[in-house]
Amino acid sequence: GLTATAALSRTSPYTGAELRSELPLPPPFQVPLPIPPVLKPVGTVAGADRYEITQRETSAEILPGVRTPLWTYEGGFPGPTIESRRGRPVTVTHRNLLPVPTVVHLHGGHTPAASDGYPTDLVLPEHWHDTAHGGHVMHDPRAVRSRVTRDYTFPLDQRAALLWYHDHRMDFTAPAIWRGLAGLHIVRDDVEDALGLPSGARELPLMIADRAFAADGALTYPALDPALRGRPGVHGPYLAGVLGDVILVNGAPWPVHEVDAARYRLRILNASNARHYELEAVADDGRVLELVQVGADLGLLTAPVAHRSLPIAPAERYDVVVDFSQVPVGGRVRLVNRLGSGRTREVMAFRVARKAADASRVPRTLARDVPEWRRSEAVRVRDLSFRAGRMHGRHGWVIGGLPFDPVRTDVTARLGEVEVWRLIADVHHPVHLHLVGFRVLSRGGGPPLPHDAGLKDTVSLRPGESAEIITRFEGYRGRYLFHCHNAEHEDMGMMANLEIV
Ligand code: C2O
Ligand code: CU
Ligand code: CU
Repeated sequence: GLTATAALSRTSPYTGAELRSELPLPPPFQVPLPIPPVLKPVGTVAGADRYEITQRETSAEILPGVRTPLWTYEGGFPGPTIESRRGRPVTVTHRNLLPVPTVVHLHGGHTPAASDGYPTDLVLPEHWHDTAHGGHVMHDPRAVRSRVTRDYTFPLDQRAALLWYHDHRMDFTAPAIWRGLAGLHIVRDDVEDALGLPSGARELPLMIADRAFAADGALTYPALDPALRGRPGVHGPYLAGVLGDVILVNGAPWPVHEVDAARYRLRILNASNARHYELEAVADDGRVLELVQVGADLGLLTAPVAHRSLPIAPAERYDVVVDFSQVPVGGRVRLVNRLGSGRTREVMAFRVARKAADASRVPRTLARDVPEWRRSEAVRVRDLSFRAGRMHGRHGWVIGGLPFDPVRTDVTARLGEVEVWRLIADVHHPVHLHLVGFRVLSRGGGPPLPHDAGLKDTVSLRPGESAEIITRFEGYRGRYLFHCHNAEHEDMGMMANLEIV
């Protein structure tokens, strides 16, 4: 089994502790890239699509020759992809057959508070095996509205974008996502359809996530080890965030995908708990292919931005077009992580299999509806610090000096008002707001970086860095959240309530 000392191969205050797998790892670029299945609606009522998702335990052969027990949406990791049209509402009924309570959040969704997956709005398990877990979540029993199935209703009156759904239970989000509770939700619209971007088999969702494996194939995670559970100081080893030494794309280790010599649209999500990547597409002859960014977290940019490499923090999404016609047929392009070392430097590979016609294009103007809020419109400026601090007498992470408390309102914002938030971080913190998208106004006192373009829901603060974001609180009143999307930081206090009135 896992022990704290044996498992931690490397520790850094910025990147977290990397767990080392206890079995031989397969060579990279052997397994074909899986594409998560698109979920079919069970019905349509009054123009709204209705889906059902059962959360259940299963196991999968992720590494060759061993089975890995997982917590899944519909038996898959990633869960099934939901595809929606802008403005067409969706109801998803979640049923919980897992041994623990869960919460579902649609990340990037412009969602009424009742369906946003507040961390104490539980879907209770139909079969509750482990009462010890139950004791933990009931910080304030009055805040818990619980049932064994739950209908989540998403109006999806929002720009076309790659969203994702994942677990969000208070104090237990990180281990639940680590065990498999994450899936994609793509919103499409007519604006995007009209552009002529690569589509069909030439549009690839890529959910990147790192994991570590025990000798029997099980996922390792510090708090999952019975030898460590409940011991004082158990937060210590993974205080900075949990990293694995195996890079999965759509649930497969270092996969390979056969492509035409043509443009492809890559919808990239970093679903890792704590690992940051800096992605670069490198051909076998050493040539670096441009990553032409067409979209950010919450949809298309005004105009494309070409990058040589692209940093991606947990929960961020980048929509990029790569042109494989620059590579000779038979050649290979590796997607590498410039921040990794050894095996974690590789992510996946593309093998250019054949010449092919390509009618796709990347127009110079993509979207005309990216909000441009001006600083002068802001009714207030808030300062919010994201730092190490104390949580329940232990080391944790705090916002404005305070760890998360579900019954305390941290920020009250008025519907329709524009605000500027000045965020400051001690170490890397990817800061995420629920409900609204924002623009990055400044970074480190200077202009935003090229990858800050577009409508975002997560901004990646670097050590010691400040950034200003601007948004208008629109849509719904109610209790929402903002938090660090390093999932371990989030579980260890770095979350706050945002009340919209
Ligand atoms: Cu992706 Cu509050 O979460
Ligand atoms: Cu979210
Ligand atoms: Cu953080």
